[in-house]
Amino acid sequence: MSEITKEIERRRTFAIISHPDAGKTTLTEKFLLYGGAINQAGSVKGKATARHAVSDWMEIEKERGISVTSSVLQFEYGGFCINILDTPGHQDFSEDTYRTLMAADSAVMVIDGSKGVEAQTRKLFKVCVMRHIPIFTFINKMDRDAMDTFELLDDIEKELGIATCPVNWPIGSGKAFKGVYDRSHREVELFSDTQKGTRMGEVQKLSIDTPKLDGILGEEARAKLDEEIELLDGAAAEFDQELVSKGELSPVFFGSALTNFGVETFLRHFLDMTTSPLPRMSDQGEVDPMTETEFSAFVFKIQANMNKAHRDRIAFMRICSGEFTAGMSVYHVQGGKEVRLSQPQQMMASERKMIDKAYGGDIIGIFDPGIFSIGDTLTNAKERYVYEGIPTFAPEHFARVRQMDTMKRKQFVKGINQIAQEGAIQIFQEYNTGMEEIIVGVVGVLQFDVLKYRLENEYNVEILLENLPYEHIRWIENEEIDMDRLSGTSDMKKIKDLKERPLLLFIHEWSVRMTLERNEGLRLSEFGKS
Ligand code: G4P
Repeated sequence: MSEITKEIERRRTFAIISHPDAGKTTLTEKFLLYGGAINQAGSVKGKATARHAVSDWMEIEKERGISVTSSVLQFEYGGFCINILDTPGHQDFSEDTYRTLMAADSAVMVIDGSKGVEAQTRKLFKVCVMRHIPIFTFINKMDRDAMDTFELLDDIEKELGIATCPVNWPIGSGKAFKGVYDRSHREVELFSDTQKGTRMGEVQKLSIDTPKLDGILGEEARAKLDEEIELLDGAAAEFDQELVSKGELSPVFFGSALTNFGVETFLRHFLDMTTSPLPRMSDQGEVDPMTETEFSAFVFKIQANMNKAHRDRIAFMRICSGEFTAGMSVYHVQGGKEVRLSQPQQMMASERKMIDKAYGGDIIGIFDPGIFSIGDTLTNAKERYVYEGIPTFAPEHFARVRQMDTMKRKQFVKGINQIAQEGAIQIFQEYNTGMEEIIVGVVGVLQFDVLKYRLENEYNVEILLENLPYEHIRWIENEEIDMDRLSGTSDMKKIKDLKERPLLLFIHEWSVRMTLERNEGLRLSEFGKS
């Protein structure tokens, strides 16, 4: 195996998804702590400071004290080189959040044990399912009173439609949380006090059959555990690596990111069960990082520079194969020419730094003079393949854009098109009119502010946004359908994208179903083609 293939094989690139406050940041921080990338809990977190350090490109982030972008962190653990892709939550949730999942080979879903599956997890989960990537579940906050464990698993299976397989099982929750039972080793892992996570803590492993366990757990907890194990062995799905790899079975772990309980156990199992960089589909078939020796990558995110003096941008790309060296020349397939990849950056722990080398599986940020678009392929392979495009994800908020000064039409059109090209917003037009009426769709409402701010600051154009009541968008898969004859519901609106492809907007979700029923043969999709 070549040095390059060895480097690629030890990479693990995953996205971490959760509903805000489930503990994603805390868990990420603990991973870094175990990997030795940071030496103190709290260095990634300290929400305000760390998030600025992660991405200080955008003024708006500073103003609002939040991060609009998602970040990538790299660290080493047990011989693996791990890339964590963070997916921002709250109101800074954007299409970028979804796109980040396109760059990952697996996903870790963090669930708050007292809440179960929450809205944002559901949305992100759908994208993981679409990609058939392995999904691992970490049920967090077990140091607090949690929902009944069986109920939690039921919730995941019902809400997300995926089978679960508990790898370990919690012994109590809240103050009574003592540790976890490792099912495959038939061992109980007891955790020592970590003083709220400020110390690593020690794990004591005891066979489930050790008589002294009764005394340690107490009679009641022991009896409950035995009962649950019996139930579990009879009812839960068997662990099956193949189903895990296809994203059909989610291994479930329990723990507490805050107190470090179960974090390292999770990390170890996860690294064993997850995958090294996966092959990616191109127009010439699958490109496998284990056999393709040349460099190739695709752009999944573009970050604009908010500094007016510099209209440059950072293009984030996922390396799919080969080795990257700083300053190398690569063929940009969509642009039809060689480009030099300069100022490569990568996130290490909580710092951004310049890098010299990177390998398949890694994510790098490259200086972009304005030539890249989302989904673009770069490759040095002789046959110039193009990686499969990144789908367009359904916006959930829509507004009509009115321009204050009609004299500035040209700047307005240029600005809004550029911002759309970067993927921060999607723009649509009325179905039967021209470019006059522009409708903008966003995944998170903050993007409306970003749009307004950027048009004013970068293009000197003032706009007024008039919110529209639509919440559901569907792409029409069979485009040959006669739009004029399509019979919808009263809350339906026909629009088209910039490539003249028809779409439908609905206020109510049930109208989507009704429209499908009324129009035989109509096929609607929640994901658009790029
Ligand atoms: P997020 O990135 O998913 O949004 O969640 P984050 O890690 O920021 O955690 C949200 C809150 O939950 C934080 O408390 C954090 O300390 C707490 N938390 C995370 N994991 C656990 C856990 O395992 N057990 C318990 N009990 N709490 C946990 P906060 O009060 O919002 O912030 P802070 O003041 O503690 O930093």
